Amino acid sequence: MEWLTDRLALQCWRDGVVGEVAFVPTMGALHEGHLSLVRAARVVSRRVIVSIFVNPTQFGPQEDFARYPRVLVQDRLLLEAAGCDAVFVPSVEEMYRGSGQTRVQVEPLGSDLCGQFRPGHFQGVATVVLMLLNLVRPQWLYLGWKDYQQVVVVRRMVEDLAVPVQVVGVGTVREADGLAMSSRNRYLAEVERGQAVGVVRALQAGQAAWRAGTRQVASLQEVARVVLAQHGITVIDYIALRQAESLLPFPDAQIEDQAVVMLLAVRMGTTRLIDNLVFAL
Ligand code: PAF
Repeated sequence: MEWLTDRLALQCWRDGVVGEVAFVPTMGALHEGHLSLVRAARVVSRRVIVSIFVNPTQFGPQEDFARYPRVLVQDRLLLEAAGCDAVFVPSVEEMYRGSGQTRVQVEPLGSDLCGQFRPGHFQGVATVVLMLLNLVRPQWLYLGWKDYQQVVVVRRMVEDLAVPVQVVGVGTVREADGLAMSSRNRYLAEVERGQAVGVVRALQAGQAAWRAGTRQVASLQEVARVVLAQHGITVIDYIALRQAESLLPFPDAQIEDQAVVMLLAVRMGTTRLIDNLVFAL
């Protein structure tokens, strides 16, 4: 497995690849969710490259950029075992080269949902993903549905800017109790980790109510809110029901029979957790 720390080394590796390249961008602190992306990307004869870059421009001033886990030795072993071909691990200086003046905005989508609570976050994500795509030049981009809004934002950007890459979303990998895997789960104190399962239980309760015929947005939100409260989760950024493809809100309080995604963002102590579930009809 090649370990590439600068753009030139990446370019040499990329120029030497015959055939298709699949790319998995990450911020490291890898878990089974990331490795499932690598495995999905590793379809016959594709070369797989992963980036590990904790991108400062997608963190707000009060957010966890400084304490975001950086465990490169462990990440390297995991990627080697998963059969990754190359890893791009640039420094902040190597990526932004002291400039970083140009930003990609996907609006209004990027200011909605998580964007409301993390201003500038999706601008940082869209910018760094476009830079990485330009550097890596893959045919395939793999992202996890755990970050549902991120997938929709990146898809929008790729389509709007005619970026020549296919975006593939891969299903969320969960712990045994259902908690969605996330690098941030390691911030949770023991008690919080016990309560955190309330996030997926709230989504499942919403889905059960949906399947039982509830179509009022407010009623479905209330079902989820009650389950969160039962698990001691009271600091809620949002509980949203949106059109699954576009993430647009429903024009009426009543949802017609169509593909729906429920998205949650909550705070437990200093940790922010997000999760989502698409309600099958
Ligand atoms: O999902 C992430 O880890 C990041 O937002 C990404 C896509 C690697 C961009 O920094």
